[in-house]
Amino acid sequence: MATYLVTGGAGFIGSHVVDGLVERGDDVRVLDDFSTGNSENLSHIASRVEIVEGDICDPGIVKSAISDVEYVIHQAALASVPRSIEDPISTDRVNVQGTLNLLNAARNVSVKCFVYASSSSAYGDSEKLPKVETMTPNPLSPYAVSKLTGEMYCCSFSEVYGLPTVSLRYFNVFGPRQDPNSQYAAVIPIFIKKLTEKQAPTIFGDGEQSRDFTYIDNVVRANLLACDGRTTGGKVYNVACGDRFTLNDLYKRLQTLMGVDVEVKYAAARPGDVKHSQASIDALRKDLGFDITMDFEEGLKRTVEWYQKVGFANA
Ligand code: NAD
Ligand code: UD1
Repeated sequence: MATYLVTGGAGFIGSHVVDGLVERGDDVRVLDDFSTGNSENLSHIASRVEIVEGDICDPGIVKSAISDVEYVIHQAALASVPRSIEDPISTDRVNVQGTLNLLNAARNVSVKCFVYASSSSAYGDSEKLPKVETMTPNPLSPYAVSKLTGEMYCCSFSEVYGLPTVSLRYFNVFGPRQDPNSQYAAVIPIFIKKLTEKQAPTIFGDGEQSRDFTYIDNVVRANLLACDGRTTGGKVYNVACGDRFTLNDLYKRLQTLMGVDVEVKYAAARPGDVKHSQASIDALRKDLGFDITMDFEEGLKRTVEWYQKVGFANA
C-alpha cells in the first residue's frame, strides 16, 4: 500500500519531493506521463518507488492510482509561462482539468491531505512587494490563470466536500535536475548550460526584473510540512526565501562561480513576464513552522556543481 501519491514525481520538483519521502521511509507511488519528466530523475530510487505511467486527465488511471493512498502531493503540470501563451488549451487541460480530476478522485477515497503546487505567477504584476497571500490575485498569463484556478478548486473542495487541501505558491524554484534542454526551460539551467558552452545567453528585457529564487530543498521541506495537516481548508502559502535578485545580478554571480567571462545578449522582454517577484514567507513560518534550509548563494553553488558533475544530456 502506498501512503503518498506524488503526481509529476518524475519531474524536477516532484522527484526531489519523492526523495524526501523515501529518505524518511514513506511508501510512495508516482503518477507521471513523462511528457516533461525524466525516468533518470528516479533511477537512483526506482526499486523503492511504485511508478505509474499515465495522464492525470484520465479518470480511470487517476482512480486506480489514488485508490489506497493517504496523501496526495500534486506536482504534475505544464509548468511554463511562454508555453501557455503558445498553447493555452493544453495548459488548461493538464493544469485545470487534470487538477480537478485528481481532486474529484481524492474526495471519494478520503485522502488525509491534498497538497497542490501553485505558483507565484498568481500575483501578476502588482507593484507592491513583498507579495502576501492576502493580496488580490492578478494573473497575467494563461499559465498563471490555470495555477490560480487549481487553488480555487482546492479551496472549493475543502469547503464543499471537506477534503483537506493546502496550496503552496512556489517562487522560481531551482536546483539539480531542472531541465536545461527544453525550449521552455527556466532561466538558471539555461544560463548554466550556455556558460558551460562559453556561449552568450539572452536576457529578455533590461535584466533589472527580479525573482525570489528558491533552492529546491526549501520546497521539499514546505511540502513535507504541509502534509502534517496543521492547517488545511484550502489555505494558500508562499514558498520562497523572501528575497529577490535581478537577472543581471544572477548572471554576474554565475560568471564568477563558473569562472567564465561571456558578454550577455539582451532582447525584447517576454510577453506575460512579471517584472518583480518577492514573497513574504511569514505565514509559512508561523503556521507550518517553515525555515529556510538553503539560501540562494549556496543553492546556486550546489546547482552549478551538480551540472558540472552530471552534464546536460540527461539533466
Ligand atoms: P517539471 O516539468 O519538471 O515537472 C512536471 C511533471 O509533471 C513532469 O514529470 C511531467 O512529465 C509531469 N506531467 C505533465 N503533464 C502531465 C500529465 N498530463 N499527466 C501526468 N504527468 C504529467 O516542472 P517542475 O518545475 O518540477 O514543476 C512542478 C510543479 O511546480 C508544477 O505544478 C509547476 O506549475 C509548479 N511550479 C514550479 C515552479 C518552478 O519554478 N519550477 C514555480 C512555481 C510552481
Ligand atoms: C517560473 C516557472 C513557473 C513558475 C514561476 C513562478 C519555469 C520554467 N517557470 O516562471 O513554473 O510558476 O516561475 O515562480 O520554471 N529569462 C531570460 N532569459 C532566458 C530565460 C528567461 O532573461 O533565457 C527571464 C524571463 O524573461 C523572466 C526570468 O528570466 O523574466 C525568469 O524566467 P523563467 O525562469 O522562465 O521563470 P518565470 O517565467 O518567472
